[in-house]
Parts: sequence; C-alpha cells; structure tokens
Amino acid sequence: MAHLAVRQLTLSHFRSHKRAVIETDGRPIAIYGPNGAGKTNILEAISMLSPGRGLRRAKTAELARVPETVGWKVSAILESLGHTHELETSFTGDGSRTVLIDGKAAPQIALGRLARVVWLVPVMDRLWVEGADGRRRFLDRLAMSFEPSHGEQTLVYERSMRERNRMLKDGITDPSWYGAVESQMADAGAMIAQNRLQTIARISAAQAIATTSFPAASLTLVNADNSEIIETADQLRDAFADGRRRDMQAGRTLVGPHRDDLNAIYATKDVPAAQCSTGEQKALLVSLILSNARALAQDFGAAPIILLDEVGAHLDADRRAALYDEICALGAQAWMTGTGAELFDSLGNRAKYLMVDDGATSAIHPIP
Ligand SMILES: Nc1ncnc2c1ncn2[C@@H]1O[C@H](COP(=O)(O)OP(=O)(O)OP(=O)(O)O)[C@@H](O)[C@H]1O
Ligand SMILES: [Mg+2]
Repeated sequence: MAHLAVRQLTLSHFRSHKRAVIETDGRPIAIYGPNGAGKTNILEAISMLSPGRGLRRAKTAELARVPETVGWKVSAILESLGHTHELETSFTGDGSRTVLIDGKAAPQIALGRLARVVWLVPVMDRLWVEGADGRRRFLDRLAMSFEPSHGEQTLVYERSMRERNRMLKDGITDPSWYGAVESQMADAGAMIAQNRLQTIARISAAQAIATTSFPAASLTLVNADNSEIIETADQLRDAFADGRRRDMQAGRTLVGPHRDDLNAIYATKDVPAAQCSTGEQKALLVSLILSNARALAQDFGAAPIILLDEVGAHLDADRRAALYDEICALGAQAWMTGTGAELFDSLGNRAKYLMVDDGATSAIHPIP
C-alpha cells in the first residue's frame, strides 16, 4: 500500500476532460487508449498537484478546456503518511493558479510539502543529448522531492537574477545598486547548489545499495564552463561582484547555479549518457527515478508519486517487467500510460487499469 497516493482525482474542464473522476485503491494505475484519448492530460493534471508548471511546462491558461475556456480545476484527495488532505488547484481565467489545501488558501509552494511528484515524459528521452536546461529541471524536480523549499529558492534566485540582468542591460555601474540583489541571489544560489549536490549524493547512495535491473549512473554536478561549482553564499557574492563588467558586456549573468548541469556516466560501461543507445539513455532515467524513490522512501517515509508517460517507449519487455516489479516493491503510486493494454501484461492484477477512449468526451473506463 502506497504511503503517498492520490486516492481520488477530479478534473474539471482540464484540457480534453470536461469532468472526470478517478478513484484509486493504492495500486499503481495503468492508463491505456489510443492517441489523443487524453491519457497524458490525466498525468499532467496530477503534476499540477505540485508547484510549478507541470509536466508539459504549459502556461496556466492553456490548460483550460476549449472551446469553453472557463478556467479549470483539479482536485484530489491525497493520502500522505497516514494523513488525508484535500488538495485543489484551479485557474479562473486571470492571474495565476490558486491552491486550496484542506479548504484553506495556500501558496502554490505549499503543495510541495504534501504531494511529492516526479515524472518521466517522452520529451525527456532526449534529455542527455540536449541542452543543460532540461537536465537542470530534472535534477531540480528530484531535489524538490527531498527538499520542498528548493522550489522557493529557485523562484527567489530567478526573480533576483532578472532584476540584476535588467540593471546590467540598463548600463548601471554604481555598485550600491547591485549589493542587495546580488546578496539575495547569492543566498538563494548557495542553497540551490547545496540542495542539488545533496540530491546527487542521496541518489548515488541509494543506487549503490539497490538491487535493480537498471543501470547505475555516476552523477556529478558540473558547470557550464567546467569551472568549479560555487557552494557558498560568500563565494557567490564575490563572483557576482567580480563579474559585473563582463556580465554587462554579455547583457546577462554568466556565473551561478543557473549555469549548472547534471553530468551522467553509464557506470558499468564508463560511457557518457549522451553516447549511450536510446534504450540505455531511457534506462538511466528510469534508474534515477527509482533511486530517487528509494531514497525518499527512507528519508520521508514514502516513495513519491511517479508519473511515467508512455512508459513502454524504448523499454523492451524484460525491462518493462523489471520496472513494474521495482515500482510494486517500492509501494510507489505510479501513474503510467501506454497506447495498448498489452504493454502492461507483466503487471497483471498488481495495477488498477483505466481505459481512455475518447478525447472529446473524456470517457475513462475503470477495467474491473
Ligand atoms: N485546452 C484543451 N482543450 C481541449 N482539448 C485539448 C486541450 N489541450 C489539449 N487537448 C486535446 O486533448 C487530447 C488528448 O491529449 P493527450 O495528450 O492527453 O492524449 P494522449 O491520450 O496522451 O495521446 P497520445 O497517445 O498521442 O500521447 C488531444 O487531442 C489534444 O488536442
Ligand atoms: Mg500522451
């Protein structure tokens, strides 16, 4: 039985779903149906139970069902470590999305303390070969699962960096203008770097003791220019102050955690992730998600809610079976999608099945 799980999920005017209610029973959920039926939309709705933009990084307004565009709402009954919470997040057409926790207005960031959600989606299949942005976001999502305040630090850092960049572009040279904003960036930046390093250490430790069919990755946090990762606020403050002239020429900030990158090496072969086969790259991602879940189960008391969109893509039948076994052993509530039921054959009755067959009416059929 999962210790952290969505027990009931209700979507209102969310993407293709006019109204849908899904009940769960503690088992993982396997969702299948044809292209365009609304499977990923369900996972996206769950991702909105955590802070941020969700698994497609869509703008809040894009989630409103067309043609009505009356806004949207996702509500859930969440069970977390023996407590039950009512979560609700909605968008009414202007401003940002709002959050209610047990009926009380709460900041979005408060969701992160209750619903720890991580995901793998098909665009991440290219995570290792594309730019650092995606890898940084992936790492930050894992970091948030361990340390929910990581999301807050990231927001503070980005907000103050935008302010600094504006001053650089305006050609402001007076150091007194930079002091406060750089100090804020340095404090948040140091926390971000430390959270990321701790996350990597925690996941590496979990990998080292796990019995798993998935490949271990040697992980390091690296910097865009291969310079050292700056871990303390004082060092960051100095780096920002020293870099003003250079940054002014560039028109943006060139040092700091927004330039960090996650480096992974397929350990047993000693090959960088980017040079592995497509299936091996996917297996590395799955491996990190599973290690994250193992570590979180120990540290927090429950594995995170895991969203695996098109779980079968690039995984052969043996690896799929191994993944299902490991998810079940972890007691994690995984929400998985695939186009056909046969992708879940090896799961058998260890999952609850939902067949989604019509994008227009959002027909979701529980399979008994
Ligand atoms: N705001 C919206 N309003 C109404 N429909 C939308 C909205 N956004 C997306 N859709 C539609 O929702 C449908 C289902 O999308 P979804 O991505 O969930 O499909 P899927 O079942 O995951 O399909 P696939 O197997 O191709 O991944 C799509 O046809 C899409 O056009
Ligand atoms: Mg999909």
